Amino acid sequence: MSLPFYSEYPFVIRPATTNDLTDIAYVITRIAREENSLGAEPMLTQEPATITMLEKMRERPHCWLVALVDNKIIGIACAVKFFETGNSGSTAVLGIGVLKEHRNRSVGSALIHRVIEWCISNNISKIRLTVWEHNNAALQLYKKFGFKPVQKKKTAFPAKGCLVDEIIMEKQIV
Ligand SMILES: CC(C)(COP(=O)(O)OP(=O)(O)OC[C@H]1O[C@@H](n2cnc3c(N)ncnc32)[C@H](O)[C@@H]1OP(=O)(O)O)[C@@H](O)C(=O)NCCC(=O)NCCS
Repeated sequence: MSLPFYSEYPFVIRPATTNDLTDIAYVITRIAREENSLGAEPMLTQEPATITMLEKMRERPHCWLVALVDNKIIGIACAVKFFETGNSGSTAVLGIGVLKEHRNRSVGSALIHRVIEWCISNNISKIRLTVWEHNNAALQLYKKFGFKPVQKKKTAFPAKGCLVDEIIMEKQIV
């Protein structure tokens, strides 16, 4: 299955390499410091801690993509194969982020599109992710690609020091 995708914004997407780790950590750290999207998660707001987390994630089967403009990383997507679900394949957990000044130009859509293609060719039957209820941009992006909410739970939102609904969404691949 191949999904149609086209954008006029001049970005390219390629698989990430270990040489990209520092630049990826920079992108994640910048996004994590925004109040709204990742909730300013303390762990992700420091580059060394982010690099350690990324190295740990790479121990599992994964699809790690970077989006570049003028040869600079401006977006990332990472799907990590987590749960085996018997003969029906396995579940990948997805994370995605695009630098603020490059949003609304289809970079996020292109990244998800490529992640889905990777899942299809790697016997992944389901993609799962979590998103804050107030993160409208991310919610719309996920809905556009067929993700459905499956669970909601109150979770501490570090940026505001209060409890907020965190929504777990899934997309069935096969
Ligand atoms: C969520 C995010 C990755 C979207 O990336 P993007 O490159 O801006 O996404 P796209 O331009 O491909 O937009 C895809 C769809 O998302 C929706 N969308 C994007 N920005 C939106 C906004 N500000 N408000 C409402 N919907 C929005 C639209 O439905 C859009 O589809 P359309 O172009 O057909 O109308 C980006 O906003 C981001 O990095 N946010 C911070 C990090 C984050 O929240 N990550 C997800 C954590 S769960």
